Amino acid sequence: MLPTEVPQSHPGPSALLLLQLLLPPTSAFFPNIWSLLAAPGSITHQDLTEEAALNVTLQLFLEQPPPGRPPLRLEDFLGRTLLADDLFAAYFGPGSSRRFRAALGEVSRANAAQDSLPTSRNDPDLHFDAERLGQGRARLVGALRETVVAARALDHTLARQRLGAALHALQDFYSHSNWVELGEQQPHPHLLWPRQELQNLAQVADPTCSDCEELSCPRNWLGFTLLTSGYFGTHPPKPPGCKTGPSSLHPGLQPSAKPPGRQGFLQAAGHHPSLQPELCPGHHGQHG
Ligand SMILES: *[C@@H]1O[C@H](CO)[C@@H](O)[C@H](O)[C@H]1NC(C)=O
Repeated sequence: MLPTEVPQSHPGPSALLLLQLLLPPTSAFFPNIWSLLAAPGSITHQDLTEEAALNVTLQLFLEQPPPGRPPLRLEDFLGRTLLADDLFAAYFGPGSSRRFRAALGEVSRANAAQDSLPTSRNDPDLHFDAERLGQGRARLVGALRETVVAARALDHTLARQRLGAALHALQDFYSHSNWVELGEQQPHPHLLWPRQELQNLAQVADPTCSDCEELSCPRNWLGFTLLTSGYFGTHPPKPPGCKTGPSSLHPGLQPSAKPPGRQGFLQAAGHHPSLQPELCPGHHGQHG
């Protein structure tokens, strides 16, 4: 998960830095309304962020046994929904995880805000849209760097905001690109390592699917072998030719349910049969 991939020399300290971000409190935990409203089986940015943070925390607690207390046992947590209270009780003993949850709420709200703030919601480079994957990667790496710099300067609020932004972009890469459709099962090896160019990228002018007149065309991207992204919004406009539509690549949809847009789709959020536009936090930003 993230801490081992942040460009740092020692995974241990960077994991600790990230954990520190989650410790001091500044606000209350905010339940994720989208997790209740979204289509069945869908996952929101907030859900992913919170689950990943709990995973990383468990990993850290396992690696660094609590001084003067029995070590945690992985088998006590396998196959169960991780809860902050359980993790903290096992590590620190009786007490509250309220401050941790508050800090995690800051991270996940900053993540969600990337879809709702006017300054960020339409910027393709913050969402891996519009065939600008190289630019998106540069912004993602920049946000991770800012996270670490702010954490080192003990500016935890800023660090949590930048971490939320970085995680949003990271999640968008996998949901707005065809990485999964290309058959990849592992994280992109160069996404967080800016020295290596991203390879095999589709260009703006490349058609990425075959034209299709149906409302939903779940198979018309097959055979496309370059890494491509969806389009969202009007800037930059979707070029002519068949381009993958954004709704098809929404994080809430499973890979198998991600048809690309047919020719002419600009804002396809409302066109997916199983997804109402108002239930699509990724493209309407009414949440968070
Ligand atoms: C959390 O860990 C579980 C078990 O390893 C894994 O199945 C799940 O995908 C992880 N979730 C995230 C968001 O990393």
